[in-house]
Formats: sequence, structure tokens, C-alpha cells
Amino acid sequence: MNNSSVADICKEEGLFCSDLPSKPLPHVGTILVTGASGHVGGRLVPELLARGYKVRVMLRGTNSAYKSRWAGAEIVVADALNEKHLNTALDGIDTAYYLIHSMRLGSKSFEAADIRASVNFRKVAGEKHVKRLIYLGGLGDTRSSLSSHLCNRMEVARELRKGKTPVTVLRAAIIVGKGSASYEIMRYLVKRLPVIPFPLQARNKCQPVAIGDVIKYLVGVLEVPETVGKDFDIGGRDVLTYKELLKVLAKLLDKRTIFIPFPFLNIGLYTYLASLLTPIPNSITRCLVEGLKSEAICHDESIKEYFPFETMSFKEAVLRTMPPEKKV
Ligand SMILES: NC(=O)c1ccc[n+]([C@@H]2O[C@H](COP(=O)([O-])OP(=O)(O)OC[C@H]3O[C@@H](n4cnc5c(N)ncnc54)[C@H](OP(=O)(O)O)[C@@H]3O)[C@@H](O)[C@H]2O)c1
Repeated sequence: MNNSSVADICKEEGLFCSDLPSKPLPHVGTILVTGASGHVGGRLVPELLARGYKVRVMLRGTNSAYKSRWAGAEIVVADALNEKHLNTALDGIDTAYYLIHSMRLGSKSFEAADIRASVNFRKVAGEKHVKRLIYLGGLGDTRSSLSSHLCNRMEVARELRKGKTPVTVLRAAIIVGKGSASYEIMRYLVKRLPVIPFPLQARNKCQPVAIGDVIKYLVGVLEVPETVGKDFDIGGRDVLTYKELLKVLAKLLDKRTIFIPFPFLNIGLYTYLASLLTPIPNSITRCLVEGLKSEAICHDESIKEYFPFETMSFKEAVLRTMPPEKKV
């Protein structure tokens, strides 16, 4: 997603946290949002600003569009692979959101880069006496064989935890929102393929979550001190198989997609098909298709003790991504 399209989407969607049960905490100092040019971080920044927090946004490159998009936020240019940059970015920070992910580098390079970034971040956060870290990672069944992408998301959590700053970890499966890579791949496939071959693994279950609910949880944990240092699974209202997700999506997009069973998960074939049909880079598609191998559902519901709001169904979440005339 480019910079202006993220800004347009945020304007269109508005804010998500107006009905969040928690209240802004006046004693929280400056909050750092990393990954702010991304799908999740880009939506978190306006939400924190609207709740009166002092926000520093960390980007790898900047331009004037960011300044007008986040009026009131401080912008720092920093690469998490560079410790010196992090020294500046984390100076005087109270709480930092860790939303960094290098999937665009491709499956061979992203793992090492993501681990290095998390090691640097944890080290500098400790030296700078940051009070807390909040990380959004991936959800997967640790009893099954996980994709390298999901293993990496868990490894990043472990690395962040090795430091002295307490880390709150939220784990999510597919995030449904405009611009979310996993959701966009599904949407393009359904929009452009009249026949979709589905492997046995498409019977695995998944619990997608709307971007609006993810933002509520990210802001919510900041405002409830009892969540410091804890792990939570977060998910939407529905648990569906990957095939059911595609069927619901096809219906909402008015597509008469035919699903035909396919005996095995040929990751190369799916990646190739997606590369023909979607603008998502192959490197990202490959990582995400591999994720079909395992179930991605919430086993721990403890987040609901703190935030008892009802999360969106998959259908509602998809409808939120559509223009108003389609929502009837
Ligand atoms: N989207 C989903 O469906 C989904 C589902 C479950 C969990 N999550 C988790 O949510 C988190 C955020 O995901 P997202 O969807 O927002 O990802 P995204 O859109 O790909 O954004 C990733 C962000 O990381 C930044 N980044 C990458 N390498 C960096 C580095 N070395 N230094 C500083 N910044 C760097 C990118 O900056 P540049 O713009 O400079 O590249 C970008 O802002 C990730 O931990 C992901 O695992 C996402």
C-alpha cells in the first residue's frame, strides 16, 4: 500500500475505539509506533492521537504527506536493523508498539532480518528504560507443523521477551481490512478466479479478525495495566475453514466461484496463480499460503475478561472493506 492510499483508507474508515471500555491513561508518556507505514500501524497512530496520547511515529523513510497525515505526531526516521537509529527512536519513550515485519524481503531473507530487528529493539528498549512493549504477532497451533512465517512471528515474541522490558503479545490470524496482505490475496483470488482448486489443508480452521477489533485490542491493552507482560490470542466471532472463508467472500463479492478438491497443497502452484492474479509480491504470498498447513484459532479467551466487547463476524468485517453501495 502506498502512503496516500493508507491515508485515504483511514479517512474513509474513521476511528474504531469510540466504544472501547477502557479510558485513556493520563500518566502514559510518549508512545512509539513502529511499522507505522504498514497496514496495522497506519491505523493505530490516528487512534492514539485521537485519545490524547503523545505519539512518536517510526518510519524508514519520510515525506511531507506523513506530517500532514499525522498532525500532532513526532516523526523519527529509523531502521530497526540499525542500533544507532533505535537509540534516537526509543529515547524518552514510555511504551513502544512493535509492528515490524519484513515479509517483503522474501522467505529467505525476512526471517534473519526480523530476528535481528527484534534483538536490536529489545536491547535498546532495555537501555532506554522503556516501560513496556506491545507486539502483534501471528496465531497458529503450536502442536502442528507451523509455516516458517508463523515460526518467525513466535520467535520474534521470544526474542523481545529476553530483555528487561515487559512485553504484551497479541496473536492474530488473518486480519480483515483493506490493504492487509492475507486478506487481499483471498479477495483477488475470489474476484479473478472462476474455479479455485482447494487442497485438503483448506479444511483447516481459521479465526479471522477485523482490523477495527485489532486496533481496539492494541489500544485496550495499553490502557489496562493488568495486561503488562501477558500473552493473548485475539480473534473475530467466527471460526471457519479456509474454504468457508473463500465461499463467504465469493458470495459477498457476487462471484459464482467453483471450488474443486485438489489432493495436495502445492505451494509453488498457489503462489504462481496468485502472482498472475494479485498485485501482492510473490514473497509474501508464499509465506502466507504455507500458513494453510496449520489451524489458526484462539485457544486462550482471557482477553475477553478485560475487553468483553463483541468482535465482528467475518461477514461484517468484509462488508466494512467494501464501498457503501455494496453493504446492503
Ligand atoms: N496483516 C495481517 O493479516 C496480520 C495477521 C496477523 C498478525 N499480523 C502482525 O501484525 C504486525 C503488523 O503487520 P502489518 O500487516 O501491519 O504488516 P505490514 O503492512 O507489512 O507492515 C510492516 C511494517 O514493518 C516495517 N518494517 C519492516 N522492516 C523494518 C525495519 N527493518 N525497520 C523498521 N521498520 C520496518 C515496514 O516499513 P516499510 O514501509 O519501511 O517497509 C512496515 O511499516 C506484524 O507483526 C504481523 O505479523 C498481521
